[in-house]
This record gives sequence, C-alpha cells and structure tokens, in this order.
Amino acid sequence: MYKKSLLRAAALATLAFAAMQAHAQDNKFRIGLILPMTGQQASTGRQVEAAVKLYMAQNGDTVGGRKVELIVKDDTSIPDVTKRLAQELVVNDKVNVLAGFGITPSALATAPIATQSKTPLVVMAAATSSITQASPYIVRTSFTLPQAAVSMADWAPKNGIKKVVTLVSDYGPGLDAEKYFVERFLFNGGQVAESLRVPMRNPDFAPFLQKVRDLKPDALFVFVPSGAGAAVMKQFLERGMDKAGIKLIGTGDVTDDDQLNDMGDGALGVVTSHHYSAAHPSALNKKFVDAFQKANKGLRPNFMAVGGYDGMRVIYEALKATKGQGGGDALLAAMKGQIFESPRGPMFIDAQTRDVVQNIYLRKVQKQDGQLYNVEFDTIKDVKDPGKNK
Ligand code: PHB
Repeated sequence: MYKKSLLRAAALATLAFAAMQAHAQDNKFRIGLILPMTGQQASTGRQVEAAVKLYMAQNGDTVGGRKVELIVKDDTSIPDVTKRLAQELVVNDKVNVLAGFGITPSALATAPIATQSKTPLVVMAAATSSITQASPYIVRTSFTLPQAAVSMADWAPKNGIKKVVTLVSDYGPGLDAEKYFVERFLFNGGQVAESLRVPMRNPDFAPFLQKVRDLKPDALFVFVPSGAGAAVMKQFLERGMDKAGIKLIGTGDVTDDDQLNDMGDGALGVVTSHHYSAAHPSALNKKFVDAFQKANKGLRPNFMAVGGYDGMRVIYEALKATKGQGGGDALLAAMKGQIFESPRGPMFIDAQTRDVVQNIYLRKVQKQDGQLYNVEFDTIKDVKDPGKNK
C-alpha cells in the first residue's frame, strides 16, 4: 500500500517536472489577462480585450523571438476571484506578465502575488492613485482619478461654477476623485455644499439627485466607474436638474465613449476632464479608432480600450528590449521610463512611480458627424499623478 502510493507520488512528480520542462522549452511568452467579462463591469472587459487583441493583430505575435500567448480570464469583478485566477496563472500557466484589472479592489487583491512571484503586473484599467504603491512590480497604463479631477477643479471656478455638490462611487477611485477635486476647488475659492457617496454595486441615484436639487448648486461633480455613466445621465435629465440650472461636470468616466452616443442630446454641453476621447484629433488616434471599429462591429473605443492597447505596447517593447530573455525584474526595468505616442497623445511611464504621466484634456459633449463625442477644447500637459506628492 505504502509502496504503491510512493510510486504514484514519484510518477506525479515526474509528470509535473515534465510539464515544467515543456513550459520552459516551448518558447512561449504568456500574458495572463484578467478582466471583468461579465457583470456590472463587463464593458471594461470587452473594451480592454478588444484593444489587446487589436494590438496583437497589428504587431504580430512573435516578439523578441518569443511566441506571445494570451490567456484571458473572467474575474466577474470579484477581487477574491481575481486573486485566485492570478495565482493559478502564475503557478500553473507560468505566465510572464499579469495584465488587465478592471477595478481597484481586484488590482489591490492581486498585488501581493506580483510581489511574491516577481511577475510584472500591468494595470490597464483601474485608477485609484495608491495601486502602484501596493507592489513594486505594478506598472499602470490607464490613469489616476487625482490626475483627472484636479484639472476639473481648476477649470470650473474660472467658468462660473462657484458652488458644487460632489457625488461619487463609495470606493477607491470615487474617494480619490472627491478628495482631490474638493481640495483643489476649495483652494481655488469654490464652495462645496455637500459630498455624497453612492454604493459601488447597483447604485440608485434617485434619492441622491433629489438632495442635490434641493441644495441648488451651480454644478454637480460626478465620478462613477465606466459603465454607470448612462444611468446617472438618464436620472439627471429625468429629474430636470439641467432645467433647474444645475450643470453636470466630472471626470470623463461619466461621459464614457462606450455609452455616450446612446445618452441622447441631453448630454450635449457636459464638460469633463480626462486623458482620452475617441475624438482626440491626431492621425494616430484616427487610425486606432478606425481599426478598432472595423474589428469590433462598429464599437467605439473608450478610455479603457486605450489603457489596454498601450499596456500591450509597454509589454511588447519590454520583451523586445530584453531580446526575449527577460525574467520578471528585467521586463519590469524595461517597462519603466517608456515614452511614446499613444492614441491619447504623448505618454510616459515614470520610472520612479511606475505610473503614467500624460495630458489631461477638458472636453465638452458635442455633435460631430451626427454623433455625440467628448470634443477636447483645452490641454493640461504632462500631468503626473498628484496622489504621489503626498
Ligand atoms: C477603478 O475601480 O479603479 C475604476 C473603475 C472604473 C473607472 C475608473 C476607475 O472608470
């Protein structure tokens, strides 16, 4: 009995060793892409996956002599699931890079795995400032809420908005948006009548909007995660907030390109601050938007897509720079300091913070070619994450 189980254990060990050898010798470079493909954040998963696949289609799947293999996993935006999937990808699939991460709690839950396994983790979507500090192996290609919110807090008081109410999703990015907007808006002489927070999951905006109406601010500043903007806009208009003279402002998450064109003309004139608009007027962006739409039945890329596209660029260039030889530390080193033109405009991965430095644009919803777009009208150049200076 004992001998039999010993033999079985030996056989299993041999098999496991053979599998490891096979992995080591198959010359594949594996990217574990973990995204919310179902549930409330599914649009983020759809956008990032489509952009990652577009980048691979445009740039080939042989890089630095290695064959790039993409393994996509759906975490349903539950952080415990993200962490378990990351663990399996590192241990069983031997991925060289972890990527994706639709929401902040998923990125934070996975950070220790990146550190322990020395695997670079490219955050393509989540945007709470502190994420990059959760592991020295994290690099970000999306944005940070403080980056976007501060620019709005500078613009608003110069444009007749003196009194605001803030309304944010009650978790990492929302708290960042609220803190950095309010701090700068007060510094600029503005007044904040009230700061409201709504639950992240299945929020009902109606009671909050009623309260905003009663407070009669010049504007309502909003952060909700990508995918929730259309619900806010609908209820804002249904309650006649615009007719009551209350403007809607926010970071660009609320006029998300994934939903904007279906929001109707009530969205016209809404001003937001963000790092990406599908209407960004550059030749590179036009090419990106056209190719993305062609490959995805007309779907318009949003800011999540551009985070995925640029994330792949950062991974590909790191693999090239290390001539296909790079382990985790070498790859990470080659990701730091990359500077390039993105469809969003110029972009830089700060070697010190591993976070993205980029332009923030002020944009107004307008019609172009019969469709609603966030049309950029002002640029704040090379904005670092203000959350890193504290
Ligand atoms: C986040 O959870 O970090 C997050 C999600 C959606 C956004 C922005 C930030 O639009």
